[in-house]
Amino acid sequence: MQNKHFEFDARGVFRVVQFTDLHLITTENPQGFRQTLDLLRRVTKATKPDLIAITGDLTWGETMNDRDAMDALSQTMAELGVPWAPVLGNHDGDKYGRDVFASFLLDRPYCLFELGDESAEGYGNYIVTVGDEWAFYFMDSHTGDFYPGQLDWYRRTSAALPKDHSELAFFHVPIPEYREVWDYEPCKGFNMEGVCCTTYNDGLFSAFARAGRMRGVFVGHDHINDFEGTLDGIRLVYGRVSGYQGYAMEGFPFGARIIDVRQGEKDFLTQIYTEHGEMYAQRRQNTPMLRRR
Ligand SMILES: [Fe+2]
Repeated sequence: MQNKHFEFDARGVFRVVQFTDLHLITTENPQGFRQTLDLLRRVTKATKPDLIAITGDLTWGETMNDRDAMDALSQTMAELGVPWAPVLGNHDGDKYGRDVFASFLLDRPYCLFELGDESAEGYGNYIVTVGDEWAFYFMDSHTGDFYPGQLDWYRRTSAALPKDHSELAFFHVPIPEYREVWDYEPCKGFNMEGVCCTTYNDGLFSAFARAGRMRGVFVGHDHINDFEGTLDGIRLVYGRVSGYQGYAMEGFPFGARIIDVRQGEKDFLTQIYTEHGEMYAQRRQNTPMLRRR
């Protein structure tokens, strides 16, 4: 199993690149397939991350070539030589089941994915730590649901870490608080398709908020949303869609999200990196539609 503990670099920085919604298919649109893998290479070479997070929908689960697609992804990652931490999306495993799909990710070069504690319910709940300050949670969001076992696993794991550590979480489907933050708080970035989450709330955000250590949550799922906003001190952030074979919107470039954590700091910096080689911090702000009573 790959080592899941990392140290800061000489400047005291640890950089994560988040790719999301790759939707790799080997049997159609070969140009899109190549473009996605090329984007992974270009962004990685330009931004030099210490870790690559892939927040789900690695492929289209209905197709019969999940393993071929994961072979190609794994080969690209092996060439790049950067540790990568994927989580499953709602489309991963539609055809053969999530257990079979998860097995395609095990024991790949540089891949940190593991099935995780069985009591945590799901395929791929695991953590990565940086220095003695940060813990990153990678979680299975199923089809948008979080199970009681996952909440227990989070509370247990968080409580066992040093008291003043900070946390980030990476998973696929947004939690309902993404809707709330857009409606009530000023946000940076775009919300062009609404937030697609479950209508009921499994309490994951409450677990994060009560623990008081979660600084940022990173999701995908909604390909043409990339906004971020802060709710109760937790930054809720979308990635930037990276897969040319998924749905997209003209004029909204594919790309990735760059996340920098620094030694001694409890907040993080984040920027968007686009397919055109532009890197920028989001500035555009919404006007919240609703006021809290
Ligand atoms: Fe997707």
